[in-house]
Amino acid sequence: MCGIFGYIGVKSAAPLLVEGLRRMEYRGYDSTGIAVLNGEIQVHKKVGKVNDLKKILPKVIKGNCGISHTRWATHGGVTDENAHPHLNETSSLAIVHNGIIDNVRLLRKKLESKGIELVSETDSEVLAHMISIGLDSGQEPIEAVRQTLRKVVGTWGLCVMFKEHDMIICAANGSPLILGQGDGESFVASDPHALTPHTQSVSFLEDGDIAIIRRGGFKISRLEGGSSSTGITILEEEWGEADLGDYPHYMIKEIHEQPEALRRCISGRLDYANGNGKLGGLRLDSATLRATPHVRLIGCGTALNACKVGRLAIEKLARVPAMAHVASEFRYNDPVVDQLGLHFAVSQSGETADTLSAIKEIKLKGGLVFGIINVVGSTIARLCGRGVYIHSGPEQAVASTKAFTNMVASLLIFALRLGRTRSFSRAKGRKIIDEFKKMPDRLEKYLEDPGPIMEAVDAVKNAKSVLFLGRGLSSPVASEGALKLMEVAYIPCLSYPAGEMKHGPIALLEEGSPVVVIAPDDEMKEKTVASIHECRARGARIILIHAEGDEIASEGDISIAVPRCDPLLTPLLTVIPTQLIAYHAGLALGCDVDRPRNLAKSVTVE
Ligand code: M6R
Repeated sequence: MCGIFGYIGVKSAAPLLVEGLRRMEYRGYDSTGIAVLNGEIQVHKKVGKVNDLKKILPKVIKGNCGISHTRWATHGGVTDENAHPHLNETSSLAIVHNGIIDNVRLLRKKLESKGIELVSETDSEVLAHMISIGLDSGQEPIEAVRQTLRKVVGTWGLCVMFKEHDMIICAANGSPLILGQGDGESFVASDPHALTPHTQSVSFLEDGDIAIIRRGGFKISRLEGGSSSTGITILEEEWGEADLGDYPHYMIKEIHEQPEALRRCISGRLDYANGNGKLGGLRLDSATLRATPHVRLIGCGTALNACKVGRLAIEKLARVPAMAHVASEFRYNDPVVDQLGLHFAVSQSGETADTLSAIKEIKLKGGLVFGIINVVGSTIARLCGRGVYIHSGPEQAVASTKAFTNMVASLLIFALRLGRTRSFSRAKGRKIIDEFKKMPDRLEKYLEDPGPIMEAVDAVKNAKSVLFLGRGLSSPVASEGALKLMEVAYIPCLSYPAGEMKHGPIALLEEGSPVVVIAPDDEMKEKTVASIHECRARGARIILIHAEGDEIASEGDISIAVPRCDPLLTPLLTVIPTQLIAYHAGLALGCDVDRPRNLAKSVTVE
């Protein structure tokens, strides 16, 4: 989603800005722009990719202070005018903004009543004009930004650059901004990945912080006045730039990285001697675990599907009530938060605004919330303070694959840990751990020979819609398969617990309708077979994902076998054929599989 990168130093700013934007490309965006100060503020902005922007940039852009932006449209269409940076009327200041201004209509009206002409449809542009009014009335730059933001309701990661002042002013509230200090130069970015080539010494602005950055360093204070407690952090883990290697796309590369990623995730976390899971980052003792009345798991998209697997595993192993919540709904349903309950915010990026807002709600109500996160040092990881890093490594494709596997694995380990504080025996724990340790090899084995994926692709690629069915732990896997195919190949997909199919979705079935059924060898299998027969009777074409050597294979028109494993662990394997079907269907239909239309990698607006 939207990304910000800014620089003030001694080097030429423009190439650094362009490189900063490039490093944030994986987040997804639809337009880009830069503003560079060299006596005047020069702005270049354009719909399209960073490469498209590069094509319209003059060969040399002088100036060693600048701000830049990748925009993912929220207010106003995808146009050059709506791309950031935005200027005030006299071009004496430029702004870039991430986030959403909720009271924009009122603010626009006020500006228009003063005769100010807004040239874009964005909410962000109002900030440029409001700050400009403050400057015209004699306020210092920091005061003009402060006074402006006090009138704004919403979220911001904001950078302001001035024609007359050698500084950049930054402010954050509900949208991350990170300041970096180099030697005689300072940086600002919304994503640590853009900063790490320049410096490891950074400050994550807290909500309500405002900062002046100059060449020699930065000064952070609070919007309401007074000093900020935000300190310097040394970035611990930098993934570097994930390159494609021999793979044509990140999505397929990341699908194939799952065995290794899973190995990393479970390493050191399975305690065979005690038949227990070990998740040190939770810092939770057995007494607290025993006292918990329930567990709530919160996430969006793929993370939500992982939560649904996690909730079933927790109830199964620990016999503790568990729920999976859609993060975007959580806060607005005014949830009852039990202070003894355990809450988990699950997110690959650690930046998802909906998940962040749920965490804030839980904290406000005195609840305990832990992160299950991939990106180290991300906003959610820092806000939760305690949690589990899933160690998938960089996930660049917008469609999440290896993060799902590791979210599920982390939640399964937690289910084991919680179960062991209750009635779940050490012997049973050991049995699961034995099986768990074999899973990376099984994933590898499957990926070496994934079965008739291309036949499945032929069956789905021109379908009006595809139905995904599964029961028990396979029901969220069906949802994940449907989400992936929809995202990457733009095919309408529905997912249902198989038993629910006859209560409505069956009406969609006609001769040749593709139905993907996830039916590993578990206690639900026979029930799922009954649903297959119901689909078949209506002419559906069954793409069956099943356990190797299972006689159920004959129930599928196209049957894809995955290695056998403990039923509890099947989601780690059965999801992979669905990812491969999505990837190859996307390719067959000529879609941009790594950057599907309209989607963003980290969704930083609610
Ligand atoms: O970074 P997060 O895990 O919080 O992201 C949540 C969803 O936006 C994300 O899973 C989305 O659904 C993916 N594009 C799925 O492939």
